[in-house]
Amino acid sequence: MKANARKSELEITNADLAHVGLGTPAGTWFRRYWLVVSTTSELRDIPLGLKILGEELVLFRDLKGNIGLVGLHCSHRGSSLEYGDIEDKGIRCPYHGWLFDVSGNCLEQPAEPKGSAFHQKVKHLSYPVRELGGLIFAYMGPDRDNPPPLPKYSPLIDRGGQRQIEPIRHNDYNWFNFYENSADPTHICVLHRHSGYGEQTWGDQFFSYHDMPEFEPVETDYGLKVVMTKPGSTPESEVVDTMSLGLPSIIQIGDTEFVHAKVDAAKLLKEGSHCEHILFLTPNDDEHFTIFTVNYYTGLDPDFFAKLERMRATEVPREKIREYDHRKYMPYKGNVRQEDIVTQGTQGLLGDREEHLGSADRGVIMLRRIVREAIGAAARGGRPKGVLPHERADEIVHLDCFTGVRLKGSVRER
Ligand code: FES
Ligand SMILES: [Fe+2]
Repeated sequence: MKANARKSELEITNADLAHVGLGTPAGTWFRRYWLVVSTTSELRDIPLGLKILGEELVLFRDLKGNIGLVGLHCSHRGSSLEYGDIEDKGIRCPYHGWLFDVSGNCLEQPAEPKGSAFHQKVKHLSYPVRELGGLIFAYMGPDRDNPPPLPKYSPLIDRGGQRQIEPIRHNDYNWFNFYENSADPTHICVLHRHSGYGEQTWGDQFFSYHDMPEFEPVETDYGLKVVMTKPGSTPESEVVDTMSLGLPSIIQIGDTEFVHAKVDAAKLLKEGSHCEHILFLTPNDDEHFTIFTVNYYTGLDPDFFAKLERMRATEVPREKIREYDHRKYMPYKGNVRQEDIVTQGTQGLLGDREEHLGSADRGVIMLRRIVREAIGAAARGGRPKGVLPHERADEIVHLDCFTGVRLKGSVRER
């Protein structure tokens, strides 16, 4: 561990949250979790070059079906294994043919003398990999022979529903701008009033620009959730929408069924939403991150995802562009994701930018504190929030994203 990763909790500042390279405090913290690096469908029969937490890596599946995540540059003289040949036992460098297995063992060096044991001295960088629910996770932390359990996140576990994995998204700004946006519910009523949220029953009534819901951030054992409420039709009831943030970089949103699939909220409110919409963010470096999105639907509609896709396709920016408008992100109003990119992609790095936080920023303030504490725990060698102990390996991890009507006061349960 490098010296600056040993900073105590009190010394961890918001500026640390934006930097994920090897040896940084947040980089050390991130490496304590399993991170999504690709999807089962994306990894085909050629090597996939990736950058994860600033490290250049290559992902491949050998012909026996084992997946490896190893250093991109060959241990011999550095050529890229992204151009290597995949074989039964591993990946072979194109330059001088060194063969590496998924654990980084060097099995062959064709140009060395017969019988040479030199290959046994070479250990190439490699990280453990697991597949779950169509996603590929890697663990880049310490103790790689005995990593923590890969949490069984509920949308990745088959429970009789339908699963959809969305196309991978790449963004060119800092991961934390995206993450903390989910702890900031008021932006939905303001920024997204032009798009999916603002133009049907749920958007107009719940996320009204002129009558915003109340909200409270609530710390949980996985991170925090932001619970938004409005009065229900009886004095004991309230209408609830929830966004959850699981450490280190997971977001789950409960209202996809109402907002994007345009299911009539009035019909569904009593039973609540049936769609778990979960996003796994993986920082590539401090200026780029990747979003892996999974939907798990347990409702009755067999065509739910086809309908969702059709509705999303209609959510395009509707602004007319003037011929003298050269702004980078135009047009944006009318598409939720583009609206988010405009605002998050122009903030600059947390720690570098000047801010004036108000009471509506209390979710963001709580999230930053929880992440700083987790970074501090990792720096001290403890178990940060969201890393499961081995005895809880079999539990299904649910991030609460309840959206519907329920009794008042029940929203504070964890
Ligand atoms: S550089 Fe890879 S085998 Fe020589
Ligand atoms: Fe948003």
